[in-house]
Amino acid sequence: MSEKFVCVADYESMAKRVLPKAVFDYYCSGADEQETLAENTSAFSRWRLLPRVLRDVSSVDLSVSVLGQQISMPVCVGATAMQRMAHPDGETATARATYRAGTGMMLSSWATSTIEEVRSSAGDGLLWMQLYIYKDRDLTLSLVRRAEDAGYKAIFVTVDTPYLGKRRDDVRNRFKLPPNLKMTNFSSAELAFSSAEGYGEDSGLAVYVAQAIDPALCWEHIAWLKRSTHLPVIVKGILRADDAVEALNHGVDGILVSNHGARQLDGVPATLDVLSEVVSAVAGRCEVYLDGGVRRGTDVLKALSLGATAVFLGRPVLWGLACQGEQGVVDVLELMRNELHLAMALAGCRSVAEINSSLVRRPEFTSRI
Ligand SMILES: Cc1cc2nc3c(=O)[nH]c(=O)nc-3n(C[C@H](O)[C@H](O)[C@H](O)COP(=O)(O)O)c2cc1C
Repeated sequence: MSEKFVCVADYESMAKRVLPKAVFDYYCSGADEQETLAENTSAFSRWRLLPRVLRDVSSVDLSVSVLGQQISMPVCVGATAMQRMAHPDGETATARATYRAGTGMMLSSWATSTIEEVRSSAGDGLLWMQLYIYKDRDLTLSLVRRAEDAGYKAIFVTVDTPYLGKRRDDVRNRFKLPPNLKMTNFSSAELAFSSAEGYGEDSGLAVYVAQAIDPALCWEHIAWLKRSTHLPVIVKGILRADDAVEALNHGVDGILVSNHGARQLDGVPATLDVLSEVVSAVAGRCEVYLDGGVRRGTDVLKALSLGATAVFLGRPVLWGLACQGEQGVVDVLELMRNELHLAMALAGCRSVAEINSSLVRRPEFTSRI
């Protein structure tokens, strides 16, 4: 491919050209009016950076520890479902790429590659399992056991999806998996989202969620999950300080500030705008991560300045995968690494430990300086 990719947006433009419309729409969409989708990225532009100068940035160390595991940079691969729609190798290509980049990958429960296939593709790489809690608890626990047995290092339980958000393009397209694909971690056609019919005129995935995922979840189920596994449990989808405290009270090992890439409740704030509140409430009792709208190295720097230990990428990885498979994901991750390296150097940070809240200001405060 002769295209020159200079930023994540270049991968998105190319992905739009190469993917079937219904697939691109599924990957790209936010919920309803997509107000939060726009917010997730624009929030980063509301913060300004205040660089420190003359600090010998000839060497900049991006490495960081996440849940006790050392990774090469504070940029990880988030859970995105059904990656074989983007490329025939799907999640296995993403796992190889993530391993090559020396960072961690969260595998979706709704992957089109099995937990075990992804493990064997990832070398010694760091993997985490994203979990949806199904109405069928035995099924849910079987996913946890398989992740444990395969050496995944944590369970990220998604708590923002009692029902699927309304993504208009998916309703219009009556989104379903192509017939050659299924969610391979499940054996029955219904649970593998591969039934030929039964989804009506709606987004097929919305119907699937209503049938299979438990909308009755409450905090006790987080305590249940903690009791059910020896792996660390991280809640994915926290946006409020009081929920962060509740999560800690129920024994979680980490918090991922996420609005599901703006795909669930439209009208919620950008994740960056609630990060500080959550970090303050947590007060160092566990690590706090962020996802949503991270597209540039400066975005990562801003999120870390506001207290995130690391960030996760959703769509950018899908764009890389769609453009050039495994190599495309490596290139997106290296692009983010290079941008973060440059941003840290220009801001006077020689290591992640040197990133702190003195580096960021909201423009209304900046203008008074
Ligand atoms: C196409 C797509 C599929 C996703 N699938 C899942 C999923 O299976 N489980 C989950 O917890 N989150 C899922 N997410 C949410 C991501 O994990 C993450 O929160 C979000 O994509 C981050 O925002 P970003 O795409 O702006 O980087 C998905 C997001 C997208 C875009």
